[in-house]
Amino acid sequence: YTPDKIRNFGIVAHVDHGKSTLADRLLELCGAVPPGQKQMLDKLQVERERGITVKAQTAALRHNGYLINLIDTPGHVDFSAEVSRSLAVCDGIILMVAANQGVQAQTIANFWLAFEKNIQMIPVINKIDLPGANIKSVEIQLKNLFEFNAEECLHISAKSGLNVDKVLQSIIDRVPPPNAKIDAPFRAMIFDSYFDHFRGAIAYILVKEGSIKKGDKIRSYQNDKSYDVSEVGIMRPEMVKCTELRAGQVGYIVCNMRTVQEAVVGETLFASETPRETVETFAEIKNVQPTVYAGLFPVENADYETLKQAVERLCLNDPSVTVQPDSSKALGLGWRIGFLGVLHMEVFGARLSQEYDASVILCQPSVEYRAIIKDNETIRKKRYDGQSEIRILDPSKFPEESDVETFLEPMVKVRMIVPNEMMGTVNGLCSECRGERGEITSIDETRLMIMWRLPLAEIAVDFFERLKKLTSGYASFDYEPDGFMETRLIKLAIYINGKEVSEFSQILPVAMARDRAKTLVQRLKREIPRQQFEVVIKACIGTSTKAISQITIQPMKRDFSQLLKGNFGGGGMERLNKKLSHQKKGKERMKMLGNVQIPKEAFLNVLRN
Ligand code: GTP
Repeated sequence: YTPDKIRNFGIVAHVDHGKSTLADRLLELCGAVPPGQKQMLDKLQVERERGITVKAQTAALRHNGYLINLIDTPGHVDFSAEVSRSLAVCDGIILMVAANQGVQAQTIANFWLAFEKNIQMIPVINKIDLPGANIKSVEIQLKNLFEFNAEECLHISAKSGLNVDKVLQSIIDRVPPPNAKIDAPFRAMIFDSYFDHFRGAIAYILVKEGSIKKGDKIRSYQNDKSYDVSEVGIMRPEMVKCTELRAGQVGYIVCNMRTVQEAVVGETLFASETPRETVETFAEIKNVQPTVYAGLFPVENADYETLKQAVERLCLNDPSVTVQPDSSKALGLGWRIGFLGVLHMEVFGARLSQEYDASVILCQPSVEYRAIIKDNETIRKKRYDGQSEIRILDPSKFPEESDVETFLEPMVKVRMIVPNEMMGTVNGLCSECRGERGEITSIDETRLMIMWRLPLAEIAVDFFERLKKLTSGYASFDYEPDGFMETRLIKLAIYINGKEVSEFSQILPVAMARDRAKTLVQRLKREIPRQQFEVVIKACIGTSTKAISQITIQPMKRDFSQLLKGNFGGGGMERLNKKLSHQKKGKERMKMLGNVQIPKEAFLNVLRN
């Protein structure tokens, strides 16, 4: 294929508007998969379980003499970094909107991502088979918000396949061919990568210039390493070897990259004979900053090394995660990991156990607070490495209050699309969350776009769930970072039988302390099973040990050892054995804090209602 016969495109849309379904249909239409297969591109177990796309996937399609590379992308806000990465490879996108729901918050965010990159967009209205479909109204929204004319819009049903062939034709007609040069030395960009247990790092590349085949010698720019290429191929969507990848094509290469950092996204690969100084590198793919941080620890300290490897390998596949070593009194050696949101964090945990068989404790997440330290050289030098501003990612590193000039908390700009009549409810929720109201725009006669500036801490945990509940699922929501705001923070410390457990402690604005203390101790009571002895849970502010909230878990009523002394007749022994083995299983999931047994789920569950 020459570049003029190649099209590289992506599908972007709000969550659940049907991207993966359209991808399945396109794959069928081009004969890449037999009809009737579902969610071909959602390969990961968590994706299938939750029905969401987490990782962008790629598939090469053949149609009427064209090679069409499809990049499927996730829709949930937490995975927008994946969308940006895919856009770096696409020359055009399908902007898909479900006809029954209309333009949603993520549609708008995706539109602007593509618009800023000057990428050709094809508006597609999906789910027109549904009784609730309102094509006219979606066309009006697309016109008002993005200036798409009704004639440009395709009307399809990804489910039944109606008009999906027109989508293929429009891609050929409207998406420009890749800007690629065949007669030049090899140069390519890594846009994704993952770790294969047998072959090492596998890099997904877009070839910009020249070509690459098995046996070629190449170099990487940032890492400055040399490699012999041992395999090249394309994704259909499963990996298929081929003899050569040429300019304009996307595909994968295997070249004995042993460490995970070598196949970093955005890296430039080039032919070994090209002098490094003359290589044109690719515009850096902007990595999105993490919004929440959480401690990650092995359940058994002995598993630290194995888990370390798993974390590194998973990070290669998910470069939006940041990792720093961390340690905790109760949980031993581990890491503090930065995620793009709470869903992102949960998915990361699920992938560690599903794909790497790792048993982990993920602690409750916290946002990145900052503190400006008083203008006193001695204090700054003595306690804060001479820094004037420090980051506080973790309650155990909370500074002395008397050292701090001001605390800062991260803010976000939130965009919500809600039915007109729900404006009051939504505004109520946002002001409860210490927000500041922004612009309100009308999307059409039934819905409004409402902007708010909110503290990230307020939305990081369950804001979306609350919003969905309040609006019966009619609101959509998206956010982006928006600087920091001065705030008054305190550390809420949790004590279990007199010992501080920093894994449960939290940093939060003063105003939220009392309420949070109460819920936190109640949830801990729910999560910690009765023990042989009494367990007292206290929440205190700062270094004070005076409780602002306290709760007691009564000891177990019947001591198990008493059963032993009792009567074994009538299957009693059998029951006892059963119970003992049950207990043993239970213990594997427990963590000892002092002499108190705590289920590992408790570290995350204390967050949930
Ligand atoms: P994420 O990957 O989570 O972002 O979702 P997605 O956009 O890939 O959506 P997906 O393809 O998983 O579709 C969501 C739901 O909508 C599924 O239950 C599909 O069966 C359904 N769906 C998709 N297209 C159509 C359509 O044209 N008509 C109808 N009736 N349902 C559709």
